[in-house]
Amino acid sequence: MQHLITTDDFSIEQINNILQNASKFKNYGNPPALLRDKLLFTLFFENSTRTRSSFEVAAKKLGAAVVHLDPTKSSTAKGETIEDTFTNLGAMAPDGVIIRHASNEIPQTLANMDMAPVINAGAGNYAHPTQALLDLFTLQEHFGSLEGKRVAIVGDIANSRVASSAISLLPRFGVEVSLVAPAPFMPADTKLAKYGTIEDIIDEVDVIMSLRAQLERHKTPIFENYETYASHYCITQQTLGNRDIIIMHPGPVMRNIDISDEVLADRRCKVLTQVTNGVFVRMAVLKMLLLDS
Ligand code: CP
Repeated sequence: MQHLITTDDFSIEQINNILQNASKFKNYGNPPALLRDKLLFTLFFENSTRTRSSFEVAAKKLGAAVVHLDPTKSSTAKGETIEDTFTNLGAMAPDGVIIRHASNEIPQTLANMDMAPVINAGAGNYAHPTQALLDLFTLQEHFGSLEGKRVAIVGDIANSRVASSAISLLPRFGVEVSLVAPAPFMPADTKLAKYGTIEDIIDEVDVIMSLRAQLERHKTPIFENYETYASHYCITQQTLGNRDIIIMHPGPVMRNIDISDEVLADRRCKVLTQVTNGVFVRMAVLKMLLLDS
């Protein structure tokens, strides 16, 4: 039984297969209903716009049945443990359970029960593997070979599962990752190059990956005033000038704090391309996990 908890669960060969299949799904359209007899549960203990809908669209495009269990309306609200919830879903013999949770450990804990394949749709600040895969696809689609390309991750890196997954996946494909953040947002335990301002590195990068301040994961407020933060870290036209750099962000974007309105509308901004690509990458991930191909 194959699970997807982190991108390390996939070999380079499997990831290349996913990228190729995602490209076929994107460019040739109308895939056959490869997952016609398959059943998936989505179980999101944290809010989501993109990931949940993207997984559901991906599954439906491949003909799978998808059942969404809303934790606020499920027996979780009556005190049922998540392990018991998962065991009961497992008793209905699904082909996969797609789960998002605030805890770093829950997806792996459920995977260890071996009741059903577990697909991590975002766990705490630990991992968001399908976001990293769709980011990799978007980069490869834009640049072709990624060997030697440089990505600066800017923002609340310490609290971001998107950053964790990008930091572990992108270097496997030759990408050099640097980190740009104020001290409270910079991870302590990193060997990556660290910078205090975007200006320190802007002339050396091909990509800026901007991140939102993960307010829901801050135990106490880190900055009282995010306008002051934005004056240093928001990606604006002034930051970019006419440089040939692409801008990425996993969403949701805090407008004019993470990225300015003008840059969001700039042709160099790939935010909606990432969302579009997410569907095709998740189709390929589901094909890999459910059909082993
Ligand atoms: N990128 C991402 O995880 O967005 P959602 O929180 O809307 O799913």
